[in-house]
Amino acid sequence: MFIGSQVTLGAFVPDDYVAMYCWANDIVAARLDGAFRPANLKDVITQCEAAAKDPSRVMLAIRRRSEPKLIGYVQIQNISAVHRSADIGIRIGEEKYRGRGHGKEALGLALGYCWDHLNLERVGLVVFRHNTRAINAYRAAGFKREGLLKRLWYVDGSWVDVVLMAAFRRSRSRQRARPGSQTSTDANPPVHINAPAVAA
Ligand SMILES: CC(C)(COP(=O)(O)OP(=O)(O)OC[C@H]1O[C@@H](n2cnc3c(N)ncnc32)[C@H](O)[C@@H]1OP(=O)(O)O)[C@@H](O)C(=O)NCCC(=O)NCCS
Repeated sequence: MFIGSQVTLGAFVPDDYVAMYCWANDIVAARLDGAFRPANLKDVITQCEAAAKDPSRVMLAIRRRSEPKLIGYVQIQNISAVHRSADIGIRIGEEKYRGRGHGKEALGLALGYCWDHLNLERVGLVVFRHNTRAINAYRAAGFKREGLLKRLWYVDGSWVDVVLMAAFRRSRSRQRARPGSQTSTDANPPVHINAPAVAA
């Protein structure tokens, strides 16, 4: 488990699946990250269990420090051993837990995991142009904008422009090497206890 000042990142437990099922069927949140498609509980459980055995994916449960309740998740996918890259996505499940710094910290911990445990060089993502909060969270965690794909997806009746962002391990190394500088992750170094189960 990775422990930050506000949240922890770690493995899922069966009690988490009902929350995952509710979020998978949250049509309002889907407007911020993809075309909506209803999912049944069995499919959600199958997906989570399959992710745990898939070497190209890691799903990390986000919990508030010292609380067992699941509040969100980070998904790292398309992990490539050849290119040393992956894609990342995040969801904080309920509005009441958003805008409190949990997303930014969870992303910082997840990036640390990508560099130090998956030995990646690049982590990329796509985000809707109008999803300002997510763009700010990604930027605050160290991602930089790389480009814009216009009218890429059709979501809930509208065409959506999609922003490409990425973070690089070497940027962190440079920041570490510069005297007096700190990355957001370095400011709150994570405590690593029992790294989450990842298929090698
Ligand atoms: C996107 C998401 C993960 C961000 O996590 P969060 O915990 O809500 O965000 P944080 O509180 O960590 O804030 C991160 C940054 O966004 C800013 N922010 C917070 N709320 C904001 C809002 N309503 N509008 C704009 N910016 C906002 C913060 O100021 C912070 O930037 P700073 O460090 O430069 O001050 C979360 O809101 C979420 O899951 N939303 C729904 C699903 C989603 O959009 N997923 C992303 C799909 S690509």
